[in-house]
Amino acid sequence: MDSPNQFWIRAILVFLSIIGIVILGRYLMLPDSWGQYGYYRGAYVDQEANKPLIHGTNQSCISCHNEVVELQNYHSHKNLSCETCHSSINTHIENGKKIADMDIKQGENQVNLCLKCHQKTVGRPENFPMIDRFEHLDKLKVKNTHTCDQCHTVHAPLENIDHVKKLRMLKETINEK
Ligand code: HEC
Ligand code: HEC
Ligand code: HEC
Ligand code: HEC
Repeated sequence: MDSPNQFWIRAILVFLSIIGIVILGRYLMLPDSWGQYGYYRGAYVDQEANKPLIHGTNQSCISCHNEVVELQNYHSHKNLSCETCHSSINTHIENGKKIADMDIKQGENQVNLCLKCHQKTVGRPENFPMIDRFEHLDKLKVKNTHTCDQCHTVHAPLENIDHVKKLRMLKETINEK
């Protein structure tokens, strides 16, 4: 007859072999740099850090386009990234040199770009400047094929318009006198 202790011996052996399998599995399957910095693969940090840069910031354009950056910084598009409307810096600059033209949206592509943010839509905050393209152009009595940059300076969208308004007001005040 088996002694009652043999049950315990078997149970302990099963338990120990499970622990052994887990330890061996961990040893075989965990990457080398696991736990170097924390509960993740340490080599991942270098791998990510060494990826080629795709986007810059607006700072990355300053060295060559200071005037545009300055102009935008003082007007209502100041919070926009240059790369939202153009394309990523890696398509234009490599090792500090221009390698290809930067994407510039013209014609219908440009209108679509502006409307992506400014099209009158129920979902946007009410106080965000929104227009309906055809209403806007109708009201201004121009053909509905007009592109936005025919009146708005894209990097300072109200610059000319405010200027024209001021001149008009000035003219009206002079006429009243
Ligand atoms: C709202 C969209 C938009 C943003 C944001 C924007 N651009 Fe532009 N950019 C345009 C468009 C559209 C043109 C084409 C010219 C035009 O229509 O006046 C242009 C033209 C240019 C040009 C060539 C002609 C010129 O005006 O000098 C340069 C250089 C330029 N952008 C750089 C920049 C830089 C640098 C930034 C970030 C500070 C920036 N852009 C942000 C839309 C934009
Ligand atoms: C190392 C200098 C340099 C940097 C940095 C740079 N550009 Fe340019 N860019 C140029 C040169 C050179 C031209 C062509 C000459 C010109 O039109 O002024 C140009 C032209 C442009 C044009 C007009 C279209 C074209 O390619 O001719 C746009 C738009 C533009 N750059 C946007 C940007 C934006 C946005 C950034 C930042 C994300 C940027 N550039 C960063 C050098 C640079
Ligand atoms: C990525 C989103 C985005 C794009 C694309 C964009 N804008 Fe804007 N625009 C803004 C934001 C944000 C403001 C600032 C709104 C505010 O001050 O509440 C603004 C402000 C303006 C204003 C001033 C409105 C006011 O009453 O102060 C005009 C005009 C304007 N944009 C025209 C344009 C034109 C023209 C284009 C295309 C060349 C364009 N925008 C593309 C986001 C965008
Ligand atoms: C014929 C000239 C002209 C064209 C083309 C034009 N705009 Fe305007 N836009 C104006 C004027 C003028 C104002 C100021 C109107 C006012 O204050 O009542 C204005 C105002 C705006 C505003 C601010 C509205 C607000 O409620 O604050 C936005 C946004 C705008 N335009 C976007 C665009 C977009 C996007 C396009 C291209 C589809 C465009 N505009 C084309 C002349 C023009």
